Amino acid sequence: MAGPPVLVTRRLPAPAMERLEAECDLTVWPEDAAMPRHVLLAQSAGKRALLTLLTERVDDDLLEAAGEHLLLVANYAVGVDNIDVAACTRRAVMVTNTPDVLTEATADMAWALLMVAARRVAEGDRLLRTGRPWIWGPEMMLGRDVYGATLGIIGYGRIGRAVARRAAGFGMRVLVHSRSATPGSPLDGVTSVSLDELLLSSDFVSLHISLSPGTRHLVSAARLRLMKPTSVLVNTSRGPVVDEAALADALEKGAIFAAGLDVYEREPRIEPRLLASERVVLAPHLGSATVGTRTAMGLLAAENVIAALHGDRPPALLNPEVLAGRQHPGAAESLRARGRLGPR
Ligand code: DGY
Repeated sequence: MAGPPVLVTRRLPAPAMERLEAECDLTVWPEDAAMPRHVLLAQSAGKRALLTLLTERVDDDLLEAAGEHLLLVANYAVGVDNIDVAACTRRAVMVTNTPDVLTEATADMAWALLMVAARRVAEGDRLLRTGRPWIWGPEMMLGRDVYGATLGIIGYGRIGRAVARRAAGFGMRVLVHSRSATPGSPLDGVTSVSLDELLLSSDFVSLHISLSPGTRHLVSAARLRLMKPTSVLVNTSRGPVVDEAALADALEKGAIFAAGLDVYEREPRIEPRLLASERVVLAPHLGSATVGTRTAMGLLAAENVIAALHGDRPPALLNPEVLAGRQHPGAAESLRARGRLGPR
């Protein structure tokens, strides 16, 4: 249909595509792979909105290529580490993400990795598929108890809290470390501690922080050394938060018991020593991958685009200062010219 030109960098679940098609003149990258950078740059030109995935880097070059009519970059993800939000704000381009709708699915995934790693389920599955003879034995493939153990949650936002809620059913003590909580402060039934204390005391450590220069390699060789040799590390946040080579070392030396990973430092590539390790459970970034959640993410991303195109505030706007026209002197004029703000 005719309407404002919008680029969608990968086909989304059908209800989201239908919603967008009804309102916009869509250009959709049809392949099940990331758009090559040069195609992304070329196809962004003249668009009013870009609906991007975590596989697209949104930086000054892309914004330049898109041009001055661009109103919005709508990410189909809660994480926006692929987007230079400050660059968007400087150019009065709104940025949105898809929070809330994926919280429970991602918490479920963290829990799945925790259980599978603790109880060696994937390793057992691999063993049986080899067809090698086996017999029940008192010490065959012993794992770690989950019920009654101590769970350390690093990052206590929406997803961290959803993981903590699940821990109640497993009779776990929950320690959390979060930027916003002072160690020692009471926090709805969980205990807030320093990062070191969390690593020293937890049987399971689950990561729920966003990627930034400050959190890159937060789980470093030194921090892995603080963890118990019986402990399990779970990462469903962003890969570079963990130093993958250091994690492979820790697993090889038995410095920790196991790991469950959904995300990777150099995604989609994976450290070969992790691929070779029996003690790592690996999933291909499936945190939000359920039919219901991916559809809800698509519909929220579509609502973000449509609201911006109609001159309304998108529901998941991350840089509202763009609307206030505060980020640079010409921004308010530029938004007015694009119909984004009412008359002064
Ligand atoms: C996100 O939303 O940031 C995930 O990594 C993809 O669901």
